[in-house]
Amino acid sequence: MFNGKIPSVIAIDGPAASGKTTIGKLLADRLGYLLLDTGIMYRAATLAVLEAGIDPENEVMVMAVAESAEIEIQPATQDDGRQYTVLLDGKDVTWELRSERVDQNVSLVAAYPAVRAEMVRRQREIGDKGCVVMVGRDIGTVVLPDAPLKLYVTASAEERARRRVADKEEQGIDLALEDVLADIRSRDKQDSEREHSPLMAADDAVQIDTTRHDPDEVVSHILTLPI
Ligand code: DC
Repeated sequence: MFNGKIPSVIAIDGPAASGKTTIGKLLADRLGYLLLDTGIMYRAATLAVLEAGIDPENEVMVMAVAESAEIEIQPATQDDGRQYTVLLDGKDVTWELRSERVDQNVSLVAAYPAVRAEMVRRQREIGDKGCVVMVGRDIGTVVLPDAPLKLYVTASAEERARRRVADKEEQGIDLALEDVLADIRSRDKQDSEREHSPLMAADDAVQIDTTRHDPDEVVSHILTLPI
């Protein structure tokens, strides 16, 4: 594995539905590491803003709510298809984080520099402890620039849309492929063109295209990478 040297942290970045979290989870399980999906933190901050009845356009108020939101990620506490349980100020919000209203506002909230600074601070605290696979958009570039292994996971927009539709179908939600594709393209644009910490591969990241490969194949390949 990894030429005999095990990386203490692995940074994984990539666009929505690229397969990065699935791959991160498989890698974390294989190594006995913690998986931190940082998108959850931005989603939880967004939900906190919406629950507080604050306009997501109001940067100052959003910042205050995000800074005080208590976000706790625990191993799954229920057997309902979840991979983990997320508590926001003590309340289980695991499924609500995937709701339409969060989907529609999260890119805006995640673009505010003060929100990012707070989330990055929290993420580094976890990264400093080691034995973690951290997944997001700016992990290799900003959060953990010294990570010994950085991966940039991509797949075509069409394939990502198809995967998202299949995931939702499993949860009993029917979505039209064209709508999901349009949403993915718009989120890609927002995430990669934002001013602060845009989505991009670190110079030293290994690029992994998952369009034509299943997650197990991808993970087997990653485990052969030299560190
Ligand atoms: O991976 P996801 O779809 O759950 O991410 C939700 C949003 O959070 C998405 O708009 C990108 C943003 N995000 C970010 O800006 N930086 C991260 N490290 C993780 C997610």
